[in-house]
Amino acid sequence: MPELYLPVVTDDGSLSCLDGKTGELCHNRAGAYTEAVHNYVQPSGLIERLKIQGSIRILDACYGLGYNSWALINELLGLDTHALSSRKTTESDYTVSIVAIERYPEMLGFLPRVLEHSSFDTLKNKIPPSEHNAYYRTLECLSDTKVEADQVIQTSTNIVDGWRFEFEIWPSDLRARVPRLQGDFDAVFHDAFSPQKMPELWTADLFQQYYRLLENRRGVLLTYSAAAAIRGGLLEAGFQLFKTPGLGAKTGGTLGVIPDLREDGEAVRIPNRASNLEAWEQEYLATRAGLPYRDPGLQTTREAILSMRANEQAASPRPSGSTALKKKPRNNPAKYGILPR
Ligand SMILES: C[S@@+](CC[C@H](N)C(=O)[O-])C[C@H]1O[C@@H](n2cnc3c(N)ncnc32)[C@H](O)[C@@H]1O
Repeated sequence: MPELYLPVVTDDGSLSCLDGKTGELCHNRAGAYTEAVHNYVQPSGLIERLKIQGSIRILDACYGLGYNSWALINELLGLDTHALSSRKTTESDYTVSIVAIERYPEMLGFLPRVLEHSSFDTLKNKIPPSEHNAYYRTLECLSDTKVEADQVIQTSTNIVDGWRFEFEIWPSDLRARVPRLQGDFDAVFHDAFSPQKMPELWTADLFQQYYRLLENRRGVLLTYSAAAAIRGGLLEAGFQLFKTPGLGAKTGGTLGVIPDLREDGEAVRIPNRASNLEAWEQEYLATRAGLPYRDPGLQTTREAILSMRANEQAASPRPSGSTALKKKPRNNPAKYGILPR
């Protein structure tokens, strides 16, 4: 067990961990599994995409314990296969490719414990006895904490029911790795620690890189954050913004969509469970609070990023955010407000 990370059981019984350095919990207190499904899998529209395309490719940024990828796999396996069968003609018709980036390989070692929880029963029940060895070999490979920085772990397997899952895990710094990624993605799951603690992982410049990776497939970006600075950065990078429903103490996350520039003017198809930003959120975004973190060159120090933003805010003709913020509706008392997230 890495010393820096303290295991914590969340309210749905699934395992998360508390990061000793930032003091932040890796997941929403309401549940690590619940959050992965609620903030990432459900509003991503990936199930619909898979039906149409037959394969999907996802960037899991800040992979950590791996919930967002594995919850997607688990939920896909729980689908009635007849719902997908219109396209499926051979055993390998559905391929899910995951490219994951996690700076600290110690985090990978949690995976077997994460998957022990009953939230992942669908996955476990789908593994035919003949594939057990392959499944556990795959897990061993994916939870190898001895891996060197920047040494990719790659595995592909048909572990369950004919589905093909491909993993490429980079034990790398997000800012260093993302600009080097090539090819097209259907979704980015962005799940860094909070912008207050790690502003360098929430900059408009990093989001531009995501836009590049998502553009051709008109992919989607999902994050648990609804902060104005983050939405401002996504907007500046070119994304069209929507909100995802709240969970626990959080009022909702953000879905970024590549705008549809087709001349027929057909509206962008918004995945289920996402909605337009509310009027007060739009107004707030246009204030100084909506000015993004910047990191030209993707190497700027944390301190410099914070001070550049403070300077830009001080010099900005935009109004302060306080008036717009007063229009934010009061939510139910925070039931899960003890730890951050
Ligand atoms: C909020 S947790 C992510 C939770 C994760 N998605 C999960 O399901 O467990 C943030 C993760 O970012 C990782 N991290 C921190 N700094 C990073 C960096 N510069 N590049 C990549 N990953 C980083 C942390 O080790 C941690 O696992």
